[in-house]
Amino acid sequence: MPLRPQPSPLAYVPFVSVDNMMRLVNSLGVEAFLTELATYIEADFRRWPEFDKTPRVASHSRDGVIELMPTADAENYGFKYVNGHPKNMRAGYQTVTAFGVLSSVANGYPILLSEMTVLTALRTAATSGLVGRYLAPEGARVMAMIGNGAQCEFQALAFRALCGIDRLRLYDIDPAATEKAARNLAAQGFQITRCGSAQEVVEGAQVITTCTADKQCATVLTDNMVGSGIHINAIGGDCPGKTELHRDILLRSDIFVEYPPQTRVEGEIQQLAPDHPVQELWQVMRAEAPGRRDGRQITLFDSVGFAIEDFSALRFVHDRIQDTEFFEPLDLLADPDDPRDLYGMLIRAGRPSEAAPKP
Ligand SMILES: NC(=O)c1ccc[n+]([C@@H]2O[C@H](COP(=O)([O-])OP(=O)(O)OC[C@H]3O[C@@H](n4cnc5c(N)ncnc54)[C@H](O)[C@@H]3O)[C@@H](O)[C@H]2O)c1
Repeated sequence: MPLRPQPSPLAYVPFVSVDNMMRLVNSLGVEAFLTELATYIEADFRRWPEFDKTPRVASHSRDGVIELMPTADAENYGFKYVNGHPKNMRAGYQTVTAFGVLSSVANGYPILLSEMTVLTALRTAATSGLVGRYLAPEGARVMAMIGNGAQCEFQALAFRALCGIDRLRLYDIDPAATEKAARNLAAQGFQITRCGSAQEVVEGAQVITTCTADKQCATVLTDNMVGSGIHINAIGGDCPGKTELHRDILLRSDIFVEYPPQTRVEGEIQQLAPDHPVQELWQVMRAEAPGRRDGRQITLFDSVGFAIEDFSALRFVHDRIQDTEFFEPLDLLADPDDPRDLYGMLIRAGRPSEAAPKP
């Protein structure tokens, strides 16, 4: 049997499959992974001006959105492909799926291709927990969670690992989702209260996380439900025409955002005037702007998810898989021996060859 020319070593890109991502996360433990990932995200927020930033490129359709989220520093370029389809779940598909790439800026070659569905849940939660460290009231232990779908458990674990939350109040319009989350989280040692309404779930909570999925301007929280001294971690309002909070809550809150040009279009603040004051989180993390000032303030993290968080996550995974078996080499890049002879490589691959495989 004639041997076909083998790809050169430069052709191979480390690929982290879903299976390997789960092995990597489980090898560290979810909370340890979230804690370490948060240090990468915080480090990147603290060097915010070094990044090439742009709002994500979104392609909207009737049922959902498909987005590309690019960013780069001097060394690496990263992007994520991600969708958001709130109706998916009823058809047996996930609302959010994703994958991403990290590349070398020096030569443009990808250095990592990774699943990012699991990683997005982790990076979203790590960002929320990290922001909670700056904004949640001191000594907060009780979190209300409205929306108990795919993101829910990750958020809970991040708030425990990073902020000390150990009691959860859960509510979802679908009791089966609450049951699933309660089962998963009770097994992780949380004290759980299942609630029958949004009004009930916020009682006694110092942190409120909203992570619902609905392709409309919903009102999962109304103004009368939010007392002073609360931190709201609003995850689910992340597209034009897709919000979770009543506008009056926003007017009573100090609002913290990732990247204003994107959040003003996609976040809760799309309901406000384009010049409504917001605080950028990178400045809070650099101690150039205040986080929580006092125990009575209502703070709101208007989370939409920004490309730098995905970049940090890819950077973290890239560092973490070195010298492990949690990736496969993927023959992704055409790399002819003579860089200008791409055509010759194609033709040689099409005919029987005696060439010995390269090591
Ligand atoms: N900000 C970010 O960085 C970021 C990242 C990932 C996902 N998201 C968003 O987070 C949201 C949740 O994502 P998911 O993957 O968990 O979705 P999911 O579909 O798995 O879960 C959403 C849950 O919300 C519930 N729900 C819908 N309307 C509700 C309401 N009015 N009150 C209570 N519960 C309600 C649904 O029954 C479902 O269980 C989505 O909107 C998604 O786009 C944001």
